[in-house]
Amino acid sequence: MTTGSFSPYRLAWPLVRLIDPETAHGWAVRALELGVSAGSGGFADPVLHARVWGLDFPNPVGLAAGFDKDARVHAPMLKLGFGFVEVGSITPRSQPGNPKPRLFRLEEDRAVINRMGFNSEGHEPAVRRLQGRDGSVGIVGVNLGKNKETEDAAADYEIGARNFAALADFLVINVSSPNTPGLRALQGPEPLRDLLSRTKAALLDAAPGSAPPLLLKIAPDLTDEDKADIAAVSMDVGIDGLIVTNTTIARPDTLKSRHRGEGGGLSGRPLFHPSTRVLAEMYAETKGRMVLVGVGGIEDGRGAYEKILAGASLVELYSAMVYHGPALAARVNRELATLLKADGFSNVAEAVGKKAG
Ligand SMILES: Cc1cc2nc3c(=O)[nH]c(=O)nc-3n(C[C@H](O)[C@H](O)[C@H](O)COP(=O)(O)O)c2cc1C
Repeated sequence: MTTGSFSPYRLAWPLVRLIDPETAHGWAVRALELGVSAGSGGFADPVLHARVWGLDFPNPVGLAAGFDKDARVHAPMLKLGFGFVEVGSITPRSQPGNPKPRLFRLEEDRAVINRMGFNSEGHEPAVRRLQGRDGSVGIVGVNLGKNKETEDAAADYEIGARNFAALADFLVINVSSPNTPGLRALQGPEPLRDLLSRTKAALLDAAPGSAPPLLLKIAPDLTDEDKADIAAVSMDVGIDGLIVTNTTIARPDTLKSRHRGEGGGLSGRPLFHPSTRVLAEMYAETKGRMVLVGVGGIEDGRGAYEKILAGASLVELYSAMVYHGPALAARVNRELATLLKADGFSNVAEAVGKKAG
């Protein structure tokens, strides 16, 4: 079990939710940096063990990009029970992101809207922090973004591949954030082929023989043609996985919160079904040839299990932690282990894609 009897987070969380969400997030990161951790080690039931890309994940439940943008708190988050942490998105040079307010809690909808716009300290401080990391603590991926004013977007991802090739357990090309103008157009077949092949070449050049797996993170708001093209180009270039999905620009009619009209990407509960549908579709398009990471609206073990059944080898979450606090990782894992065993699976891999389509 990962949570001790005294959890500062469990006591503080109801209060944290009363303050401005970006301030609350900053405090949470600071507290984690200072070692105020509710965790006492990873959750390691053998049924949760997953071997993907030759890496041993103690469990398949990761922290999605955006929480630890500057690679400050991956170690404490791993101790809280996440099986891996994806830091970033990190841009080559530091940039402030969009004006505040840019992060909104949609309490009634158990959702979040953000238009952070890649606020990032840049590669250099993150490289320094990752150089100092104890690799035995767990698996850390790096999500790469581009600076707002960079015109040749692929160049920023090439720099990212070079700078993090020796430091990341996996690398993610993020072209699916709705908050950087023009970014999502890079998901089109020609720019995508150029982007993926140039980034892969840079990675292989920077770490010949030991390059980490290269993944692409996609949006949920894609046409059938977009999805077929992304699958074809990704397999053709030979990247190692897809992260499905980022936040959505859609605003379902069901949203109740007064913040529902804010611009940006919507995440959390209302994203669960749309993103799981895209996951199942990408599983059908890529079956057996591409590792899929399922993310979007997971808030319990059942949600994680549904993503795995739809085709995810690994899953990630972020928004539900805004409502449940960081102890959520341990709970999701506990519930997932129970569900896998109840259906007679002896490990995660056996369940992957068992209910796709
Ligand atoms: C505040 C916030 C910031 C985010 N920042 C990033 C980011 O920098 N890069 C990225 O690829 N995804 C980012 N995301 C998207 C998440 O990684 C995830 O794909 C999305 O929120 C869906 O998962 P969830 O419903 O569990 O939050 C962010 C999400 C939130 C809520």
